[in-house]
Amino acid sequence: MPTNKLNLARRTLLRWYGENRRSLPWRRTRDPYAIWIAETMLQQTQVKTVLPYYRRFLKAFPRLETLAAAPEPKVLALWSGLGYYRRAENLLNTARLIVREHHGSLPRDYGALKALPGIGPYTAGALMSIAFDQPHPALDGNARRVLGRAFNARRDEDLQSIAQRLVRGPRPGQWNQALMELGSRVCRAREPRCPDCPLARSCVARRSGLLGSPGARSRRPRAKTIDWPMVVLDRDGKILIRRRPEGGLLRRLWELPGGIREKSESRVSALRRHLDGIATELNALCEIGEVRHSITNRRIRAPIYRTTIRNKIQLPHGGWCWVSPASLRRYPVSSLTLKAVRLFHRP
Ligand code: ADE
Repeated sequence: MPTNKLNLARRTLLRWYGENRRSLPWRRTRDPYAIWIAETMLQQTQVKTVLPYYRRFLKAFPRLETLAAAPEPKVLALWSGLGYYRRAENLLNTARLIVREHHGSLPRDYGALKALPGIGPYTAGALMSIAFDQPHPALDGNARRVLGRAFNARRDEDLQSIAQRLVRGPRPGQWNQALMELGSRVCRAREPRCPDCPLARSCVARRSGLLGSPGARSRRPRAKTIDWPMVVLDRDGKILIRRRPEGGLLRRLWELPGGIREKSESRVSALRRHLDGIATELNALCEIGEVRHSITNRRIRAPIYRTTIRNKIQLPHGGWCWVSPASLRRYPVSSLTLKAVRLFHRP
């Protein structure tokens, strides 16, 4: 790839970014800690979803030391609904490790950053460039797609080499964010907006007609639909929640009792099976609505039932408790349960 072509693309895209960039809170700070929180939240999650979580998180934990000193359930509770909870666990463990081993500041070194839990090549590159102004590429899915299309880079080595050459020069952090911005708003996976693209004139994929063809659309694997009935068990204004087990899906999060329906059962019998031990004490189940939620490639459909209990029940051992809907915010709760509770309780 000729250097003058890369230089022109760099100047053109930086100018476009200067005129079109969204004003986002993590773009108004130079604090490496705040940028680390943002970049972690933005992994696999869209900007508009991240915004309220970022604000609440930094209000609760304004500095790395405050996060390091926080109890894990409080950190997970502030993450409730954002998904991929391992990210929150890693943030907390890494904050503690940084206090112990790096005097409380994120290291200014790519290798040292990448050695920390939850920080991979993308996040290390984003931190080096955005927080520390060092010329490291930060290739997320959007940036890869833009470079792949604009310069016809298919193999990972080619992408890396072009990204390395492009990031050298002034404002590496702005450059990396310009690539991400173009990828999320213009050079989109499914319907690229080529007429709005500052790189359109030189873009290899567009010039060779690849973007207009059906083959250019990325195919997502077919999502699997799952039925997951849940129940709101009401006792004097309190509801019953339980904690998911240590291993597996949504581990350790709190949720309304319920679970996946097998093909051979009805929704109500699935619920009764998941409520083994207390099912016999339930009054009639009344359906109050349905919520939907996607986790990776599973599309969950959750009919929500409500009922009361006939007699006082002995709760199964470990991880079950009665809470008022208002105090649910203090628990790390699954997104599905948050949506279900909104059917009958508005904070
Ligand atoms: N996605 C990942 N990092 C981002 C950033 N800094 N700005 C906007 N979107 C992003």
